[in-house]
Amino acid sequence: MALILNNSAISPGIFKMTVAFTGVVKPGQFFMLRAWDKDPLLSRPISVHNYETGQLSFLYQVVGKGTEILSQLQTDDEVTIQGPYGNGFPEITGDLCMVGGGIGTAPLYYLARHYREQNPTGKCRIYLGFRDSAYGVDAFEALADEMILDVGGIITNKLVVLASETVVTCGPEIMMETVAKTVPADNTVYVSLEAHMACGIGACLGCSCETRSGNKKVCKDGPVFVREEVFNV
Ligand SMILES: Cc1cc2nc3c(=O)[nH]c(=O)nc-3n(C[C@H](O)[C@H](O)[C@H](O)COP(=O)(O)OP(=O)(O)OC[C@H]3O[C@@H](n4cnc5c(N)ncnc54)[C@H](O)[C@@H]3O)c2cc1C
Ligand code: FES
Repeated sequence: MALILNNSAISPGIFKMTVAFTGVVKPGQFFMLRAWDKDPLLSRPISVHNYETGQLSFLYQVVGKGTEILSQLQTDDEVTIQGPYGNGFPEITGDLCMVGGGIGTAPLYYLARHYREQNPTGKCRIYLGFRDSAYGVDAFEALADEMILDVGGIITNKLVVLASETVVTCGPEIMMETVAKTVPADNTVYVSLEAHMACGIGACLGCSCETRSGNKKVCKDGPVFVREEVFNV
């Protein structure tokens, strides 16, 4: 159980929850959250949005029953969190280019912060795309050498990747596939996949995905994969 320090809307249907937590948490990892007894049956996977000593944040979109229940929790309520799970993003040296779409921007914030701390002289360029309205942009702006924002269009149409950059993308599958297929072969590209998850720890096979080296579990072998593993590039 974790104590909720804050849980409020930052944009219509988009909530940020901060809970008290102490542990080792890598960018790109996720937790399984639940705040109900039997219905819905399963806990819900939510990525780490930020972690600073003692405070763990999640950014989530209300799309169904589980996230609706989460959105109604108040400061000083408790929420069950299990994790951190998943491999997270690898340590990135050199320059970083991030491409986030919608709620897929959630895990990229902690990555950008971590990257800045580890690579004070590295360059960080951030592409963010939103369908209706943008959120969380100011926080990214503070960490970016260059920000490219798109609302209502197709962010990948604006994407220009530099030879020095490692690319990280998270968002709708079609967006990640476009990034995977259009970024030059010499750049390393990491994608963070989503899948329906039951256990989150590699025990149920509910999140299997086809990869170049056979079926893998998004929860345990991912959610971060190198593009060649999961897309035909
Ligand atoms: C590793 C991982 C990290 C995630 N991180 C975040 C995050 O940081 N913020 C966030 O808002 N969401 C995140 N998600 C998605 C989130 O888990 C789902 O939106 C949530 O489980 C929906 O639960 P619900 O009960 O509200 O909706 P449901 O009633 O279960 O579903 C509503 C709709 O969302 C779709 N859906 C549900 N779960 C998933 C899923 N896992 N993948 C794709 N589509 C799904 C359903 O097909 C349905 O159309 C993540 C998913 C994974 C696998
Ligand atoms: S969610 Fe159970 S194996 Fe991945």
